Amino acid sequence: MPIIGSRELLSLFFLNKTCFNGLFRLNSKGEFNVPYGKYKTAMIFDQPNILAVSKVLQNAEIQHANYANCFDRVNENTFVYFDPPYRPISQTASFTTYTGTEFSDKEQLQLAHFFQQLDQEKGAKLMLSNSDPKNQNPKDDFFEKAFAGYNIFRVSASRAINCDGEKRGKITELLITNYKPKFIMEYRCKKCGGNEFISEPNKYDVFEGFEGKIRLKSSEYTNEKLVLFCRDCSEVLEFAEDDVKI
Ligand SMILES: C[S@@+](CC[C@H](N)C(=O)[O-])C[C@H]1O[C@@H](n2cnc3c(N)ncnc32)[C@H](O)[C@@H]1O
Repeated sequence: MPIIGSRELLSLFFLNKTCFNGLFRLNSKGEFNVPYGKYKTAMIFDQPNILAVSKVLQNAEIQHANYANCFDRVNENTFVYFDPPYRPISQTASFTTYTGTEFSDKEQLQLAHFFQQLDQEKGAKLMLSNSDPKNQNPKDDFFEKAFAGYNIFRVSASRAINCDGEKRGKITELLITNYKPKFIMEYRCKKCGGNEFISEPNKYDVFEGFEGKIRLKSSEYTNEKLVLFCRDCSEVLEFAEDDVKI
């Protein structure tokens, strides 16, 4: 990355805060090409926030490089968060490049392989976010295959970067981890602590609690009160309709 002076830095701040939804994108010639943001008022310099961020960054080293360059620096005490270019969820959302450099399925799979390598060889804690193809096509299991064996969480995301305001805020995105994050509140049996439950006719196979709800593998569940039994100690647990997420 070229070293930029304070004048360029200020221009970048100005553009970022006044352009469309704060998006940063370059065209194939490396030129900034985000449209005008149409804000009535734009908060360009949030001084307390900039000073707070500056303080935190005093202890940080920022490197502009291919992600694979971090390999030697990672060990079992490292937390690695990957925020790659999102895989497009529809034909029209075919935007995969912020900087004129391609990031297609091939690169997504290479990154998944790198994730697996860091997991197996370094034992670091890993988290990766991406778009959820199932918003568009429930049968698209690209990430289930690429990250087989890892935790894949679907979280509701209010997507600021969408030119169609109606479509903002109504989708899920993926969080993939090699560890169980604290934000996942699991249902546990109060008697024995087990976390696997079965329903009486054995129709629904519950696999885990998610954001404080019970999630089912089966889609046959039809909004009724659900009575489950702990698989380990047979303790009976009742769940209301609101507790269940399909
Ligand atoms: C979703 S954006 C990340 C945004 C960032 N987390 C932020 O808050 O500003 C994806 C980024 O991945 C970068 N990228 C693409 N290929 C890469 C590679 N091989 N190594 C490292 N970064 C890459 C893109 O330049 C882009 O900035």
